[in-house]
Amino acid sequence: MDKLFISCALPYANGPCHLGHLRSTYIPADIYARFNRMNNVDTLMVCATDEHGTPIAVRAEQENKSPKDITDVYHELIGNDLKACNISLDSFRRTTDKRHYEMAQEFFLTLNEKGYIYQQEIEQLYCDNCQRSLPDRYVEGICPYCDSEARGDQCEVCGHHLDPIQLKEPHCLICEGTPHPQKSNQYYFKLEEFEDELKDWINNNEHLPKNVKNFAAEWVNEGLKNWIMSRDMKWGIPIPLDDAEGKVLYVWGEAFIGYQSSASQWADEHDLNWLDYWNDKTVHFIGKDIIYHHTIFWPSMLMGKNMKLPYSVIGGGYLSLEGRKMSTSKGWVIWVKDFLDKFDSDLLRYYMVINAPLDKDTDFSWDDFQRRINNELTDSLGNFVHRTFTFTHKFFDGKVPEKGSFDELDEEFLSMIEQLPDKVADEIDTFNFRDGLQEIMTTCKFANKYFNDKKPWKAVKEDIESAKTCLYLSNQLVHTLAVVLNPYLPETAQKIRGILNMPTEDVEGFMKFENRTPLVCWDEAKEFLDEGYEINKAKPLFKKIEDDVINEEKEKLYNTLDEQEDDNMSNTISIDEFGKVELIVGQIKEAEKIEKADKLLKVQVDLGDEVRQVVAGIAKRYSPEELIDRKVIVVANLEPAKLFGVESNGMLLATDSMELLTTEGKVGEHIR
Ligand code: 2FM
Ligand code: ZN
Repeated sequence: MDKLFISCALPYANGPCHLGHLRSTYIPADIYARFNRMNNVDTLMVCATDEHGTPIAVRAEQENKSPKDITDVYHELIGNDLKACNISLDSFRRTTDKRHYEMAQEFFLTLNEKGYIYQQEIEQLYCDNCQRSLPDRYVEGICPYCDSEARGDQCEVCGHHLDPIQLKEPHCLICEGTPHPQKSNQYYFKLEEFEDELKDWINNNEHLPKNVKNFAAEWVNEGLKNWIMSRDMKWGIPIPLDDAEGKVLYVWGEAFIGYQSSASQWADEHDLNWLDYWNDKTVHFIGKDIIYHHTIFWPSMLMGKNMKLPYSVIGGGYLSLEGRKMSTSKGWVIWVKDFLDKFDSDLLRYYMVINAPLDKDTDFSWDDFQRRINNELTDSLGNFVHRTFTFTHKFFDGKVPEKGSFDELDEEFLSMIEQLPDKVADEIDTFNFRDGLQEIMTTCKFANKYFNDKKPWKAVKEDIESAKTCLYLSNQLVHTLAVVLNPYLPETAQKIRGILNMPTEDVEGFMKFENRTPLVCWDEAKEFLDEGYEINKAKPLFKKIEDDVINEEKEKLYNTLDEQEDDNMSNTISIDEFGKVELIVGQIKEAEKIEKADKLLKVQVDLGDEVRQVVAGIAKRYSPEELIDRKVIVVANLEPAKLFGVESNGMLLATDSMELLTTEGKVGEHIR
């Protein structure tokens, strides 16, 4: 029996799933898995939560939690989201599982033994205050390319990939201090050595979709650079070498292995060997933002370990929302849970697939969702199935009638029914999921027209043969639909089977081992129901989505936008608000440096009737000596704060470039 290994990109365990995740990765992977199971392929579909990396570690420190506290919560939430959408994973694990640590370390050690890992001294940012080096997201500063504020790994404004060391004015995200470059030893993977083999794989693998192939070819032709595999931090998988204390594997150096460690745990539980699946055929489903990782880094790592390369990598396009880029931080997002609280998962699966080819970016819009569900799913598919069942009951006692003679239109319809299973199969097999679904929908549209033209409600009285043929064929199509819809709309397919009086199975999110062989196999789509076959009572498959339901969703979404615009509006302040700021002329009497904070000075300012201690970020511009007796403007009613443990009661006004504002006013005078 053929075996198939399907992996879905591992979601970071620091947020729930939104519609974009499902659209690019999990729904397509599930369609492919369900389809293959129906074709007698022994399929293993795996995923896990990706739980290491700096964003999770930074967030944990900021929230005063352990990273594991955070990932525990999201592992569960993400699992629930995937289940609710009927993603039939066989194994859903975590990169914090013991097995994952073991396999990731073993992988690294093998690469090391084979000579693909080496050490190199490089400059990294080090924060004296926190006493540690600051990998990528632990630092923010100014982008050297466009002068915008940027994170240590990337500038979101100009898109440049950055090394933290390149940032201008870097600051530590934990303590706000200024880190400085320090030499450190890191482990590198010899990516350059795989350039030729990679080129070969990319150019000669006919299963890679065009979008993936083109990106990959472009990158590999630009030339590859060796890849840093280590980080100086605590959260992560320790590098298992004697001289690597305090170093963990870079999250991208171990996340891929989550596919294998997830499979390995599953296989052990069922006395199977995951490599049997891996070595037969492996397909990775990912979002297009990580094509680079899966066509450059991962295949090279596999080559280094002498493992089989994937059959294909499927990179789903981005999803925007109502024409705007999705943004979780701005609330411009639809969470899977919120969506599925309101609508059936099959509606989401339908819309996400029919909307655009998988390799293209596309948009989710509430109006378009409503239109497609009402006009296509309900009016075309739902209506055809429903009228077939109702008429069969009304005129033929709930039994599939014997076929009468066939005219040209009947022949045409028959041939469409017969061809549908193979057409859909070809499309799914070549990862053209949308085209497969479109074949189904086109057939339904044709079927409705056929039904209208044949007018069986009239024909029963005038031409019974024609009415019989019409209902005979219509029931055959319904039966075919119950099979070919299964990968796309599993719940709907089961509902149709129920009405067809056939055994059904529970559609479940995660796969139970004992249910891995589906009840329905693909070839059943080509079997015809016997004349006289008795069906159950008709029940509608879908309900139309009313305007008020959509309007409510739109309102909710657009409210988040309004709130932000309100927030932006509050950048202007009223004169009353400005009046609350107490500005007083002061004179600096003493100034000194603060240990370990090279930007800050502690100053004592005379305000006339009191002397205030203020900490000011002007040390790069002024020496303590040159400040003595200088007149300054002090914000006197600012809430006290502690900076580097030193109390500050006010603020000195200065320009962006740290130049102090001064005045000829009298000490203690208020400024209006
Ligand atoms: O980009 C991401 O969301 C990563 N967590 C994907 C990892 S996929 C694989 F490498 F495991
Ligand atoms: Zn710091």
